[in-house]
Amino acid sequence: MASIGPESVALIFATSEKRRNADVDYLFRPHSNFVYLTGFHEPDALLVLAPGHPKFEESLFVRPRDLSAEQWNGRRLGAERVKETLGINNAFTVEEFKEVIPNLLDGRNELHVDQDSETSHQVDDWLKGMGEAGLEPPQIRAELEDTLHELRLIKSEAEIATMQEAANISAIAHQRAMRYCRPGISELALESELQHEFALHGARFTAYPSIVASGANACIMHYIQNDRTIEDGDLVLIDAGCEYHFYASDITRTFPANGRFTPPQRDIYDLVLSAQLAAIDQVKTGQLFTDPHKTSTRILAQGLIDLGVLNGSLDEILENELAKPFTVHRCSHFLGLDVHDVGKREIDGTDRVLAPGMVLTVEPGLYFGNADTMPNLDPRWHDIGIRIEDDVVVTESGNHVLSSDAPKSADDVESLMAG
Ligand code: GLY
Ligand code: MN
Ligand code: MN
Repeated sequence: MASIGPESVALIFATSEKRRNADVDYLFRPHSNFVYLTGFHEPDALLVLAPGHPKFEESLFVRPRDLSAEQWNGRRLGAERVKETLGINNAFTVEEFKEVIPNLLDGRNELHVDQDSETSHQVDDWLKGMGEAGLEPPQIRAELEDTLHELRLIKSEAEIATMQEAANISAIAHQRAMRYCRPGISELALESELQHEFALHGARFTAYPSIVASGANACIMHYIQNDRTIEDGDLVLIDAGCEYHFYASDITRTFPANGRFTPPQRDIYDLVLSAQLAAIDQVKTGQLFTDPHKTSTRILAQGLIDLGVLNGSLDEILENELAKPFTVHRCSHFLGLDVHDVGKREIDGTDRVLAPGMVLTVEPGLYFGNADTMPNLDPRWHDIGIRIEDDVVVTESGNHVLSSDAPKSADDVESLMAG
């Protein structure tokens, strides 16, 4: 409320359930802004923040109690229990909202809402209704980007503890997948091992669909089909993380299906790992958001020269982005309630300076094609796809890797799989 100021109102929507097919809905997951401010997870709710407003300063609008609906579809908190349960002072039913909105917005100059299109339409209708009723709707429509998203970017100790828990669960799940893997099983069977481990620890959802990519599939960044049979000699790239108490984890490990890297696989693995470790060293207070990316790109490019994949000087290769076909994506994104979390990576065209409490991934990779897609490539590199991804918190004195329980050196991976 301090950051939006006394002229403003913020509307923060939980959003609604979404239809999957016929009368079956997707499992509901509230909008992250809403969870951040309320901890409440029923659909159709709305939080109103109106600094200084005599009646509605902090108000939660929720679905009304309805014993019949609750018997069919689950319990509801109801407005009556909001204050004692959530500590929000004023509570109303969503049905009451339409009536109070003109009173609430009248005389307020700025309206802060998420750009989420679904709720935008609703807000437009309300504002139009106010105009038609001769009231004065807010003149300025502001995004929550400069206020709420900036708060979400810096994680509190409690948030970091939850993210640590999420990363721990995901790391154990990666260990389980490595132990279980053998040639002849399906990618889907491996995915189910991850899912099982997440659920055992209380994480029902993944933070994003798990990527279980064997062989050439590892070179597809968002491969989620997960239906191939894993073959002897394949590498398996797993990019998977649970969501725990609404917080995401995002871990990638790549390992040999049969438990032993071939020499070319190991060459590339060690190169990606050296780039990842150097990039993690760049995650500290005062560095720029793009420093891990720049560092890892330089190391990967030099490695590709050393292995004979690229020819030319390092500077020339970097300048002309000649390593891009192999490195494909950027090295980092913020992580939090959302896997690609909010927070500006640039301010006025200048790189963001890292500060304590920011959490970001470090995830360099190398991806090679085959005779079809890269006809000039030495066949020894064909279809190798390797990414190594950790979740890293910026601290006062450096950084802390949340996902360090997932084995990472080639030796550690091989010995876990041998066990
Ligand atoms: N799993 C999505 C990402 O790594 O960004
Ligand atoms: Mn990631
Ligand atoms: Mn990932």
